[in-house]
Amino acid sequence: MPQKVTVTVIKADVGGYVGHSSVHPRLIDKARETLDKRGSNLLIDSYVATVGDDINLIMTHRNGVDCPAIHELAWDTFLACTAVAKELKLYGAGQDLLSDAFSGNVKGMGPGVAEMEFVERQAEPIIVFMADKTEPGAWNYPLYKMFADPFTTIGLVIDPKMHSGFKFEVHDLIGHKKVVFGCPEEVYDMLVFIGAPGRYCIKSVYSKTLGEICATSTTQRLNLMAGRYIGKDDPSMIVRCQSGMPAVGEALEAFANPHLVAGWMRGSNNGPLMPVAMEDATPTRFDGPPRAVALGFQLCNGNLVGPRDMFADKSFDKARQIANDIAQYIRGLGPFEPGRLPLDEMEYTTLPDVMKRLADRFEDVD
Ligand code: 13P
Ligand code: 13P
Ligand code: MG
Ligand code: MG
Repeated sequence: MPQKVTVTVIKADVGGYVGHSSVHPRLIDKARETLDKRGSNLLIDSYVATVGDDINLIMTHRNGVDCPAIHELAWDTFLACTAVAKELKLYGAGQDLLSDAFSGNVKGMGPGVAEMEFVERQAEPIIVFMADKTEPGAWNYPLYKMFADPFTTIGLVIDPKMHSGFKFEVHDLIGHKKVVFGCPEEVYDMLVFIGAPGRYCIKSVYSKTLGEICATSTTQRLNLMAGRYIGKDDPSMIVRCQSGMPAVGEALEAFANPHLVAGWMRGSNNGPLMPVAMEDATPTRFDGPPRAVALGFQLCNGNLVGPRDMFADKSFDKARQIANDIAQYIRGLGPFEPGRLPLDEMEYTTLPDVMKRLADRFEDVD
């Protein structure tokens, strides 16, 4: 049996600098230092990335998914970063860590997790996509475009290894159920669900021809777990590319037409997901607009050769311009939907209080 490699991305917001706009350099140093020191016997390689105020720990190892030691390493890294965030009095220090005690797996404890295990191919290009100021369902549209839309991915039409399509595992984050759709034959059924990204999220995608995992995403919803507002979930995902999977350029192409996602200011507004270079992943206008970054790596015996900052390319200037135009327009709507999210999707609201105060002023309509 060929040896397998596991790529694990665990992410959290443990304190913003300034406000919710970015991560303080001392937290990045602390994360690197902790992974290097504590992970030396556990990890093959690691890379610490940030998008807005979120820290993503990108790790490779041989321990498979859901490995308690790897999850504990990530948890302890975030605790160490939280201590620095508290020392600097950063905004929302420790905001995503919902518990004080680690229990074997970070799932359900606040941090987002995306991980996959596979046999490394002759060449193994992967892209780690990371977003800030939005929710896990934000990946539905680009994942659909990468793996099911022939207008984005010409490989679906002309690559014999892609032509029979892909399987999508979709999670219902509210009903706690999952379902697998085979595409293209079930595309219309699947779109009924994934077109509602606040509830249904694509967790993973598998190649029918290769029988292999191609993509996986973080799908936790912090507010559903905590029962209160603690920021948006700011999801990440790993996409394997080439040789029967979308080409690197096909995976990136899915971001060329910025789509609207829920999040932005106070997690309660719609905004365009802007693909940006790492240095521009600092959402400021109205705490946004929401950002996506893409780090490309070639895996080499589990080592992360890279990263390349894939959205730094000039060919995404137009997408950024469109995102800024959409942002300008939708901000003009102010507190009106669809600028503001519908009442039941806002991360926090004054509605119950205002309703209570005005309760006896409401009269029956004849
Ligand atoms: P404040 O209550 O600190 O103004 O927070 C607003 C906000 O940024 C929500 O995360
Ligand atoms: P984060 O989820 O990135 O912490 O942002 C929260 C927020 O309220 C921004 O306005
Ligand atoms: Mg934050
Ligand atoms: Mg964030």
